[in-house]
Amino acid sequence: MKILKITLIAFILHIASFLNAGEGMWIPLLLKSLNEAEMQSMGMKLSAEDIYSVNRGSLKDAIVHFGGFCTGEIISGSGLLLTNHHCGYGQIQSHSSVDNNMLKNGFWAKSHKEELTNPGLFARFIDEIKDVSKEAMMGVKEGMSNKERQSIIDINLEGIKASFTLGEFQELIIRPFYNGNQYYAFVTTVFNDVRLVGTPPESIGKFGSDTDNWVWPRHTGDFSLFRIYASPDNQPADYSPDNVPYKPKHFLPISLDGVEEDDFTMVFGFPGRTNEYLPSPAIEQVVDVLNPAKINIRDKALKIMDKYMRADEGIKIQYASKFARIANYWKKWIGESLGLKKTGAIKRKLDYETEFVKASGNTNILNEFKATYRDIEPYALTRDYYNEVALRNIEILGMIRNFRRLITAYEENGETGYENFKARLINFLPGFYKNYNEDIDKEVFGELTELYASSVDQQYVPDQLKKEWMFMRALKDHNAVGNYFFSNSIMPSSEKVMALLEQDPKDVMVTLKDDPLYKLGEDWEKIYAEKVSLPYNGHKSILDSLQRVYMKSQMDAFPNKRFYPDANSTMRVTYGKVNGYTPKDAVYYTPVTYLDGAIEKYVPGDYEFDIPSKLLELYEAKNYGQYADSNGKVPICFIGTNHTTGGNSGSPAIDAHGNLIGLNFDRAWEGTMSDMNYDASICRNIMVDARYILFIIDKFAGASHIIDEMKLVHPKKK
Ligand code: ARG
Ligand code: ASP
Repeated sequence: MKILKITLIAFILHIASFLNAGEGMWIPLLLKSLNEAEMQSMGMKLSAEDIYSVNRGSLKDAIVHFGGFCTGEIISGSGLLLTNHHCGYGQIQSHSSVDNNMLKNGFWAKSHKEELTNPGLFARFIDEIKDVSKEAMMGVKEGMSNKERQSIIDINLEGIKASFTLGEFQELIIRPFYNGNQYYAFVTTVFNDVRLVGTPPESIGKFGSDTDNWVWPRHTGDFSLFRIYASPDNQPADYSPDNVPYKPKHFLPISLDGVEEDDFTMVFGFPGRTNEYLPSPAIEQVVDVLNPAKINIRDKALKIMDKYMRADEGIKIQYASKFARIANYWKKWIGESLGLKKTGAIKRKLDYETEFVKASGNTNILNEFKATYRDIEPYALTRDYYNEVALRNIEILGMIRNFRRLITAYEENGETGYENFKARLINFLPGFYKNYNEDIDKEVFGELTELYASSVDQQYVPDQLKKEWMFMRALKDHNAVGNYFFSNSIMPSSEKVMALLEQDPKDVMVTLKDDPLYKLGEDWEKIYAEKVSLPYNGHKSILDSLQRVYMKSQMDAFPNKRFYPDANSTMRVTYGKVNGYTPKDAVYYTPVTYLDGAIEKYVPGDYEFDIPSKLLELYEAKNYGQYADSNGKVPICFIGTNHTTGGNSGSPAIDAHGNLIGLNFDRAWEGTMSDMNYDASICRNIMVDARYILFIIDKFAGASHIIDEMKLVHPKKK
């Protein structure tokens, strides 16, 4: 017995020496074997079966993939769904108008009748997860070419799909894990009638906006409420007035007891993508080459937008969402590079690689990685330049791509193909031009084409840019290139483009071929496809198979280490503790923020830091009801060591007993490198405290009928 105990302790210590506390995005199916003991040792009172069970209602039955890009959770017996404000942003925006601005004023349905439908929005439940690796790998042998291997797997996957008997409303998803070394199948149920129930105004739901994005300390009430509707027999159904609120297999009770430093927390959701097992040359490339280039490009575009937005209120509204989107990852990459440097990620990887070589005897693979990363670098860099400059940040060039598709549709499928695509285009264009400002785009065009032409190898620069640039440079006129292309093109003008679409397809083609912006986009794409994308994909496919082999060799070399698969938009559990952190010398951040801190940041009338007067009144009167902390203050956010990424937005933070304590929405800036190099010393996820959500719904919005359908509990006061 004693020997067993000692071996067990030694084993646990061994595990601990490899993994950071908090690191890992685990497959719910494997919690029992890999995580349950550790989770319980950290304070969890649940069993793995309480979290994931196929046979009875478990926590997983309260968690949904929200629209395929965020997470949501069910918090009442009537299908009430909680997610982030920034996850429901598109829906909230679509219901808003100048007269009824829900972004600005918020919205609270007073009854089920007032809840608003959202075509296209869905919520996906996970019914069952199955390891199908053996079946997927049948007949796959070492040394097979990638193509050979994949074609066998594809056939196997078809067979696996056929072996599942699905219910009428179920969908099967099969995904590769561990870089293609394993496969898991997910039986899912999708609900398509998801209605908006409530949202706070932006001055709460997006408080701090871009300045505070990725930042701790944070004071954002980033939440919104939806409801899943089902047919009268509680099955998924397309929207119908006859639909009724869905009765879930499980919903999360909400704790009123809050959190303290070191409390156990678990975050359950759908993280999108991580790369935790890259070799050192990959990290080096990100830090030294790719991130700096992307940051620099966005820096220039954002500065131009900012200049115009500050000068004109209308442009500010027009560009708010675009600016936020571009700024979000710009800021993330800056934090990521800083974090990778600060934590010595490259050295850490190199040390690990030394260990790996010792344990596996395999020196070859790391040399191959090194050579292949060196080979891919010029293509990877040009690819990032092309994507950022020609597709993302010069808006008109991104838009023009649709016209190339229109022509392709005509060439491939004749009139019908043309008309089909044209109908989609006519739908899309008004939205594009509504938020389009030619002056901004022209200036961005001038700056970024120059940056492109002077940063990448000349063979990747379209002739027009070379010619115009040489000429304009001689004139030393910075904006002349933009002026030349824009004033000679019809593309920046909504009227001209719409009029063009009235014409005969043949005439449309003639006009387009003559348009300087269209031509530039076309030539640029051609150069990119032939000279960049093609060789890039060749090297990338070598890297993918190296990574697959490396992943497997690591698992073989360290048989006692627990490996979690990289995020791939499938359901995962991560757990950690409520903890502050030290971002730099002499600075320590405590883990909880309060309404008092929002008041400190308050700037009346500011678009980022304004506070609604009702909230100020509640603060003055200390009218907090049951939602205050034991210190008498209303908490807003808290942080923990849970390992999260994009897609985890809207994920529930769950306490030791299975109750909701918070809502995940962001990470602390210094630790955004957790996507490649999780480090518990500075990686923190940011959650809205559940009590702030309740406080806003109840005291601020006066929507106590919504509180009434929830189950509020006191797990700490027994
Ligand atoms: N940084 C968070 C996440 O990636 C929140 C983004 C939304 N908020 C914003 N200010 N852009 O995606
Ligand atoms: N804000 C992210 C999201 O939208 C979460 C993160 O990257 O931490 O999913």
